[in-house]
Amino acid sequence: MVEPKIENVRKVLVVGAGAMGSQIGLVCALAGYDVAVQDISPEMLDKAKEQLSARLNRNVERDRNSREEADAAFGRMEFTTDLEEAARDADFVIEAAVEKLDVKRDLFARLDRLTPEHAVLATNSSTIESSRIADATGRPDRVCNMHFFNPALVMKCVEVVKNPETSEATVATTVALTERIGKEPVVLNKEVPGFVANRILHALANEAISLYENGVASFEDIDTACRSALGHPMGPFELMDLTGIDVAYYVRNVKYERSGDERDKPARSIVERYERGDLGRKTGKGWYTYDSSGRKVPS
Ligand SMILES: NC(=O)c1ccc[n+]([C@@H]2O[C@H](COP(=O)([O-])OP(=O)(O)OC[C@H]3O[C@@H](n4cnc5c(N)ncnc54)[C@H](O)[C@@H]3O)[C@@H](O)[C@H]2O)c1
Repeated sequence: MVEPKIENVRKVLVVGAGAMGSQIGLVCALAGYDVAVQDISPEMLDKAKEQLSARLNRNVERDRNSREEADAAFGRMEFTTDLEEAARDADFVIEAAVEKLDVKRDLFARLDRLTPEHAVLATNSSTIESSRIADATGRPDRVCNMHFFNPALVMKCVEVVKNPETSEATVATTVALTERIGKEPVVLNKEVPGFVANRILHALANEAISLYENGVASFEDIDTACRSALGHPMGPFELMDLTGIDVAYYVRNVKYERSGDERDKPARSIVERYERGDLGRKTGKGWYTYDSSGRKVPS
């Protein structure tokens, strides 16, 4: 068995060119790595290319990158539908494909056959722990979660989550890569649903909803308390409107399906909004109401 080492990482393969994968690819390219972004959809690859190029142009206009840096980073990126070709010389894989267990298991089985033996196979999944994928490969010791936050170009935190078989060399390599691409690693020694940051966020949101449903305070005032007393950039209800009430609804249903605990079910006020189609900013109404330019309308 060949142990992974950060010194051997030259090329990163990102699987999935969606919201997360495309930005993760650019983060790695800006740090000097050769990057292949692979997707089954040529349209998603075209869209990713277009958005990243526009993003780099904006960075140059705002003096965040020089023209040379931006061009060099983009020049280090390739966009392809050919997994076999992209995986052949990949030293580190970050899988950011659609959140479906069977798709990820199939991908990891193929990546195990296609990549060099030393390559770490990491998944960016938010809800699928790598132990549920690792046994589809012949290298479970080189599999872990490497969980970025949205938008990946901006957010600093990356959670590195060990599964029971993840080797220390895999954790060390993943932590070192996280640092080299300018992010801050948070290592989880064991798998827990939601990992650390989202678990805390979820607990906060549930407490906020419970205070609201019990008539303790209005949701507007609870948001104010989180902003002005706790220093959060936005309150839990404002955040729910941004990420989508449908997401809040699905996440709680998945948690309930897995735990069977009635307390994990989506709260009444979430179900009501979900059933009315008041899904937050994207529908113009959630907890708050928004005008066509996305500004909050005073209630
Ligand atoms: N969106 C977020 O806020 C966020 C944050 C952290 C982590 N994640 C995780 O990142 C992953 C991707 O999420 P996203 O929001 O970027 O999704 P997305 O829907 O924007 O992109 C998913 C991409 O995967 C591609 N895809 C589907 N099947 C594939 C396959 N077999 N091979 C290659 N590509 C395939 C799709 O064509 C699509 O481009 C998920 O695992 C999710 O849990 C998402």
